[in-house]
Amino acid sequence: MENLNIDWETLPFGYMKTDYNLRVTFKDGKWGEVEVHDDENLPLHIAATCLHYGQQVFEGMKAFRGADGRIRIFRPEENARRMRDSAAGIMMEPIPEDLFIDMIKRVVKMNERFIPPYGCDSSLYIRPLEIGLSPRIGVSPATEYMFMVMVMPVGPYFKHGFKPTQVVIYRDYDRAAPCGTGRWKVGGNYAAGMQATQRAKANGYAAALFLDPKEKLYIDECGPANFFGIKGNKYITPKSGSILPSITNRCLQQIALDMGMEVECRPIHVEELATLDEAAECGTAAVAAPIYLIEDHDKGVNYTFGTPDKAGPVVTKLMQRLRDIQRGDYPDEHGWVMILE
Ligand code: PLP
Ligand code: COI
Repeated sequence: MENLNIDWETLPFGYMKTDYNLRVTFKDGKWGEVEVHDDENLPLHIAATCLHYGQQVFEGMKAFRGADGRIRIFRPEENARRMRDSAAGIMMEPIPEDLFIDMIKRVVKMNERFIPPYGCDSSLYIRPLEIGLSPRIGVSPATEYMFMVMVMPVGPYFKHGFKPTQVVIYRDYDRAAPCGTGRWKVGGNYAAGMQATQRAKANGYAAALFLDPKEKLYIDECGPANFFGIKGNKYITPKSGSILPSITNRCLQQIALDMGMEVECRPIHVEELATLDEAAECGTAAVAAPIYLIEDHDKGVNYTFGTPDKAGPVVTKLMQRLRDIQRGDYPDEHGWVMILE
């Protein structure tokens, strides 16, 4: 492989220019031809709905190189489905699943030299994005859309990789409304969470942990990841209409079942945190990041789980199994991995 002068072990989770991105436009009621670009810029109408009224949805998934040299993409069909749901949720044109998968496979192959080698913690992050193009000043959906896919090699989202993190609950912010857009992957949710996240980071926390926006009693999720806890032999994760249905979370639930654990998907009262043995955040970018401490800022209560320098045994086992399946080191019993030929 050509030497790219990348230190794969210390890569941050950040943007990097790679060789190509793919784009396709929806116009006159149909999707056009896929275009290959090496340019990072977009020509946009100054009144496009993505700029003014938030018509924008995105996804995130990863590709890995296995010990056998093969490239594995993790569950892209699930991301295709969720992106269609997100698009429909804010009145955008849903991308056909086969077009989505075809473009993902092509863009990974075309940027193959950026896939980190087997054995390191990095991976190739795949970022599909759809935007509304039509000019509108009155609020209404666009009739033209662009779907594009870019990729870049990344390291773990939380700086210390698998070292336990500390997160904080502030009641002054919501990332989503009870019947709002929290269940869809739209950029506005991340803008809504930015104040809390920046405040959390400025105070030394890895992330803000949001409570349900209606009653502020139950755990919702972190800015970029779902939450789960371990209590004895149980994997417990929030059921809520205002969180993103995480694909990683669903995989970890299945792995927990495979390991003989019970799974409960139900509201988790904030005070129940005191009874959990282990806690973690999970997501494509976050993978499974253990949590050592949750500060409930407004109540002045700290919940701790295990020790600050070592993840708990169950979170470690779950996360290791997921990692092994993604890289081809453990049998793909549930058909989660798409191998690029
Ligand atoms: N929750 C939010 C708000 C996210 O942005 C993400 C990342 O995609 C997740 C959860 C985790 O979802 P997934 O496991 O599908 O990546
Ligand atoms: C992902 O995990 O893929 C995400 O999109 C989270 C993002 C905020 C980095």
